[in-house]
Amino acid sequence: MRAIRGRLLTFLLAPRGAGDAQSYRYIDDGIIVAKDGRIEAVGPADELTAQLPADMPVEHHAGALIMPGFIDPHIHFPQTQVIASYGAQLLEWLEKYTFVEEQKFADPAHSARNAEFFLDELARNGTTTAVAYCTAHPASAEALFAAAQKRNAGMIVGNSVMNRNGPPGLLAPAPTAIADSRDLIRRWHGSGRQRYAVTPRFAITSTDQQLAELGALLKEFPTVLMQTHLDENLNEIATIKRLFPNDPSYTAVYARFGLLGPRSLMGHCIHLEDAEVALLRDTQSVAVFCPTSNLFIGSGLFDYERLNAAGVRIALATDVGGGTSYSMLRTAAEAYKVMQLQSQNLPALAAFDLMTRRNSAALGLEGEIGAIAPGAFADLVVLDARATPAMAHRMEVARNLEEELFVLMTLGDDRAVRQTYIAGEPALEVRA
Ligand code: GUN
Ligand code: ZN
Repeated sequence: MRAIRGRLLTFLLAPRGAGDAQSYRYIDDGIIVAKDGRIEAVGPADELTAQLPADMPVEHHAGALIMPGFIDPHIHFPQTQVIASYGAQLLEWLEKYTFVEEQKFADPAHSARNAEFFLDELARNGTTTAVAYCTAHPASAEALFAAAQKRNAGMIVGNSVMNRNGPPGLLAPAPTAIADSRDLIRRWHGSGRQRYAVTPRFAITSTDQQLAELGALLKEFPTVLMQTHLDENLNEIATIKRLFPNDPSYTAVYARFGLLGPRSLMGHCIHLEDAEVALLRDTQSVAVFCPTSNLFIGSGLFDYERLNAAGVRIALATDVGGGTSYSMLRTAAEAYKVMQLQSQNLPALAAFDLMTRRNSAALGLEGEIGAIAPGAFADLVVLDARATPAMAHRMEVARNLEEELFVLMTLGDDRAVRQTYIAGEPALEVRA
């Protein structure tokens, strides 16, 4: 058991706009009691302190803001050495950089070394759960699951299944790929905090037969998630039209194979026709907004208001290595700018709600993660809005919590993360 003290902030429902005080719970001096990885109690320090055993260690993060750990619902584990690759849009970027690096994950030692780096980097950025694409090699998912399990970190992992339009080193014929996925599901889905996501990389890299088998796999395991890419880039969409001439849209391809639904995370969703928006809404699929990636690969602007108004579920993610930062704070900053370019607003409250509660809901894990509440995992991030000289200087004139949050998301990055707790255990060495 341990007690963690500081300024506590957790979201209760989607903010209806800036200043919506009903949307969150804030305790100016609060304590979280963590026991066996979960939150046992939470409340004001002056009320809880009297009930705690005198010898219970209290970690006091004076002045810092303690929030539920960030959730990154779309990131590529094998792209830690693809991030920051110059000058190409999606299809060329995949061939020139991504497919090259991903082939190295056939090697279990390479996968294991990268898994430790990946999880360290997430923790340094305050991200406590991620939904990660691996490569087609079972060794890559295996390595990430094993490393996450050792840390008691809740990860959702899937091996990217491909059987065409990629280098031979990443392709697996349908029976092998499906057998590998099924084997990983049986071994890891529900083991400790680990979960599996069925992962067709995107419709370009799987034949009809493989997509059908992946749809069947999803049906066979009703609690497994699904992740893929959708309507990211115009050349990608033109290729889809060539490969699937009889389907009315890109989204309709996934629908035909049973790949849409409330557990389906659809990366990007930039260039959607109206009928596709309706399909996403009707199937309760999640549109995953990846702003740093969309800007970096030059894919386009995610139309948040259009999808939100249509009733499509939305999540916010980094998409490293198309994305340029592991930090959900940097990601929120770019989301804000992408929305500004379309005369839309992203209030700080809404951004932090997205990074925590709403992303947990997108994964079907509301109550388990993404909230500071009894029963939830004690996955926490401790944030310092005065972490850099520029932030401290700006904070001199910040008048309220919402302005502090906006400083954090606009100027903050890993330097603003003082500590990250995973299942109640500190994941970072304490900074001086
Ligand atoms: N579409 C298919 N694969 C990928 C990938 O690795 N990254 C991005 N951004 N889009 C994709
Ligand atoms: Zn992606």
